[in-house]
Amino acid sequence: MNKEKIILNAEAYVRQLHQQDTTGHDFEHILRVRFHALDIAHYEKADTFVVELASLLHDSVDKKLFKDTTTAWEQLYKWMNEMQLSSDIQDEIVHILKFMSFNGGKNNGKLKSLAGKIVQDADRIDAIGAIGIARTFQYAGHFKEPMHISTQKPRNLNTLNSSQYHDEPNTAINHFYEKLLLLKDMMNTERGKEIAQERHSYMESFLEQFYKEWDVTKNGEG
Ligand code: ADP
Ligand code: NI
Repeated sequence: MNKEKIILNAEAYVRQLHQQDTTGHDFEHILRVRFHALDIAHYEKADTFVVELASLLHDSVDKKLFKDTTTAWEQLYKWMNEMQLSSDIQDEIVHILKFMSFNGGKNNGKLKSLAGKIVQDADRIDAIGAIGIARTFQYAGHFKEPMHISTQKPRNLNTLNSSQYHDEPNTAINHFYEKLLLLKDMMNTERGKEIAQERHSYMESFLEQFYKEWDVTKNGEG
């Protein structure tokens, strides 16, 4: 099958996977990740076919989205075989999907493919800035997490496992400290870093304003 047809097929395949999503991983997220990935690929002179394919498929086997990941992986392999993708391309796609996720920092350094690093940057761009903020609150709502708890101090990765936080629920605001504010220093590409910097500053202003408005019952307006 030619590359153009495979991409169109991939679009249709993931559209049905993500169309009902209310966790911040809807089909529009996939389309934005593809857009950013192709933009970065242009600067990095990377293979655009693998970049485009991996960006479309990047959330198709995610354990947060699909309870039965064994079936999700089986379906992906079946689809790749139907598309008659070479085993080299299949291996690269599988490698990217396995290691591009943040996974609490556990996947650091494991992603080897340039196409993968580009898709990872694109996914991280969509995790920060105004869209990143919106997705985080949608995720928190979907999984019934509070948006914020006044008494809870921000947890970062170093304190995540500390027993003092053991019984506290995760919150949307806490996710900024666990992950979102760390992403700008984890970008792989120069283009990715440039975009991340602006979105990072926007999140800092958002947090400042959020706390001001949140504390209105304690401090009064202004
Ligand atoms: P990755 O694929 O890098 O592991 P995730 O799928 O975990 O990323 O996260 C994607 C987005 O989902 C995050 O950027 C955030 O918006 C939202 N999200 C994930 N985990 C949480 C959480 N615990 N609380 C709030 N939002 C979250
Ligand atoms: Ni994603």
